[in-house]
Amino acid sequence: MSEQLQKPAGASSSRTRKLQELSSLALSGGGSEKAKAQKGKGKLLARERLEELLDEGSFQEIGLLVEPALRHPSYQGRLLGADGVVTGVGKILGRSVAVFSQDFTVLGGSLGLAHARKICRILDLARESGMPVLGLCDSGGARIQEGVESLGGYADIFYRNVQASGAIPQISAILGPCAGGAVYSPALTDFVFMVEKVSHMFITGPEVLRAATGEQSDFESLGGAQVHGEKSGVCHFVCASESQCFRQIQELLSYLPSSFRERPPYLATSDPADRESPFLEELSEGDSKRAYSVKDAIWEIVDDRKFFEVHRSFAPNLVVGFARMHGEVVGVVANDPAHLAGALDIAASEKGARFIRFCDAFQIPLLTLVDVPGYWPGVDQEHGGIIRRGAKLLYAYCEATVPKVTVVLRKAYGGAYDVMASKHVHGDFNFAWPNAEIAVMGPQGAVEILYSKELARAEDPEGFRQKMRAEYLEHFTSPYQAARRGYLDEVILARHTRKKVIAALEVLQGKSVAAPGKRHANMPL
Ligand code: HXC
Repeated sequence: MSEQLQKPAGASSSRTRKLQELSSLALSGGGSEKAKAQKGKGKLLARERLEELLDEGSFQEIGLLVEPALRHPSYQGRLLGADGVVTGVGKILGRSVAVFSQDFTVLGGSLGLAHARKICRILDLARESGMPVLGLCDSGGARIQEGVESLGGYADIFYRNVQASGAIPQISAILGPCAGGAVYSPALTDFVFMVEKVSHMFITGPEVLRAATGEQSDFESLGGAQVHGEKSGVCHFVCASESQCFRQIQELLSYLPSSFRERPPYLATSDPADRESPFLEELSEGDSKRAYSVKDAIWEIVDDRKFFEVHRSFAPNLVVGFARMHGEVVGVVANDPAHLAGALDIAASEKGARFIRFCDAFQIPLLTLVDVPGYWPGVDQEHGGIIRRGAKLLYAYCEATVPKVTVVLRKAYGGAYDVMASKHVHGDFNFAWPNAEIAVMGPQGAVEILYSKELARAEDPEGFRQKMRAEYLEHFTSPYQAARRGYLDEVILARHTRKKVIAALEVLQGKSVAAPGKRHANMPL
């Protein structure tokens, strides 16, 4: 028998005791005082968060016993359990996910070398095993004591986020501060969740800002959930509480495949595929200038009226989100006439492009509902880069090879007609309702340009104007012009929209397009 195997009696039980000691130290994070302070701020602890997020009893921790890789004198006598980040795997709705949850009780959840390595390990595991990765971020950023090792640690994470992009879904929940370069890992992921009054993201905090530029702000007005949900568009989901945030993450995952290799999860429905909609018929027959919420139309079309909206508060003139059609997941992109008359602007273009690229990466077919008067005009839009930034939406639709089914509901004018998954950007099935208007521009603008001389000479300019507008509508905007040329596959009755879309998606289930032979494309950024 080898010397190693001849352990003295009692050695194994002392090792077992040691395991208990080490584990209990690690599990205590930064200690009870720090935990109390965290709870005092109305925040959950890192492990409590995982308990709420994951299926009961499913969490398997990885790296519990990891300690700081560097030993700074200020660490002496402190509890630095698991080096400030809880990592592992678990299940959500029975499907495996990889997770990390930063522990603010340990040096403010700051990221040192060992902490970064733990996150990298989780990202590698998730990508190689084909499962989504969820990061719960609550951190003061790069750990000052570990200097360049912390900076390098962040870059190691960024690199992995990019390698994983398009391979597995990556989701970030910001559940505390997220400062400096630390915001860039969440920004590289697919979906960012924030909680009102709890989450803050900024490159430069209020104090530094005040010193550098004199601008006055606070955490909330500079980088709170509302700001990033509505103005910057950094955040896709603004949640009222941490619990709501976890429920929303679970719901989001119910629409997503675990990796790009899989199809999104099918969910059987009792909602008939051929269910007709009198509401859509009414919408189609009514005044095309009347504002309405396109979400009412989406609910009518999709399974069980269930639509999971993404990026709700940002660029509401373009609605995006997930739904199911006869059990199969689709990504819905729809102009919303309730905001800016449904026109496209910079924010809507970027929002749509990002969503379409996500769907394309993860085999999620696109259902596009078009009701768009064109691009939103304005000096601020031109100077803000609507040409460069608006091109992103066009690019994303042209690039997407997943099934693309398009329905023109009421209007498709100008360049926005081209962009919104038209036949010309390789829409697979293009439908329109009978009263849809498809033309270079609306009758108001067109009549002024085409008949400027006649209008100047007319005895009754207003009467002439009205007559010409009616003629224009009749001759230039009907969907039959497009149908005649094959740019529409079918003009459908509005009440049949659901069954037509489902039938088209069924046909397209086996769609496959060979990847173009080049290194990568160069989309406008
Ligand atoms: C080390 C940190 C830390 C950090 C916080 N702590 N941030 N320790 N490195 N970056 C420690 C505090 O010293 C404190 O330690 C504990 O965490 C809790 O912090 P408090 O300040 O008491 O908490 P609070 O008042 O809630 O404020 C949280 C905070 C603030 C907003 C995050 O701590 C803060 O502004 N920290 C610095 C943020 C920052 O500028 N980080 C660097 C960004 S640059 P004790 O001893 O009390 O427990 C960066 C570069 C990344 O991240 C580059 C990637 C490209």
